[in-house]
Amino acid sequence: MKRQRAGRLEGRRIILGVTGCIAAYKACDLASRLVRAGAAVRTVMTGAAREFVAPLTFRVLTGEPVFTDMFETPREFDPAHVRLADWAEAVVIAPATANSIGKIAAGLADDLLSCTVMATEAPVLIAPAMNARMWANAAVRANVRRLEMLGYRLVGPDRGYLACGWEGIGRLSAVEEIMEAVEALFARRARRRGK
Ligand SMILES: Cc1cc2nc3c(=O)[nH]c(=O)nc-3n(C[C@H](O)[C@H](O)[C@H](O)COP(=O)(O)O)c2cc1C
Repeated sequence: MKRQRAGRLEGRRIILGVTGCIAAYKACDLASRLVRAGAAVRTVMTGAAREFVAPLTFRVLTGEPVFTDMFETPREFDPAHVRLADWAEAVVIAPATANSIGKIAAGLADDLLSCTVMATEAPVLIAPAMNARMWANAAVRANVRRLEMLGYRLVGPDRGYLACGWEGIGRLSAVEEIMEAVEALFARRARRRGK
């Protein structure tokens, strides 16, 4: 038996941003699928995300370090968010909370994930997940429109059963759908560069 490698995302360097909601457990499956597709995946978790899933899970699934702390003394000269931002070929935030969406839309950078997003030139894909009323909220709608206007890519959310017991729009897109959106990011970039 040998370790399975080689896939549609072979050699791609992806930052997986995980924010604080119940759907964070689905990010574990996403991390595993990205790795199986050949990508190197470094996970950046918000403080709230760590209330839902342990960093160790992503550490084991990806085989890469997991980043959580903005103010960790850097081992190298440049701080973690700059290093991560430079390293990434794509940033995928799944699931993305209303809070993190709002921060990115406003250009705020008060934790490692939002700083990394502000510091990167890589395309950023955002997969929101939240209660249906939060998703319908006028401020959230305006933030989502602003993200789209600024060139961020969004996938979902889908309609369906929500962990809070509601039915409606706010469910994290299926992991397969997020994978397709990640592949589309790279395909679009390759087309633009003519390779
Ligand atoms: C049990 C529970 C579930 C939550 N689910 C969501 C959710 O699905 N979507 C969301 O936007 N916020 C959700 N929240 C609220 C976020 O955790 C909160 O806004 C937090 O500040 C998000 O921080 P972050 O964006 O830095 O991860 C939930 C909170 C709790 C306690």
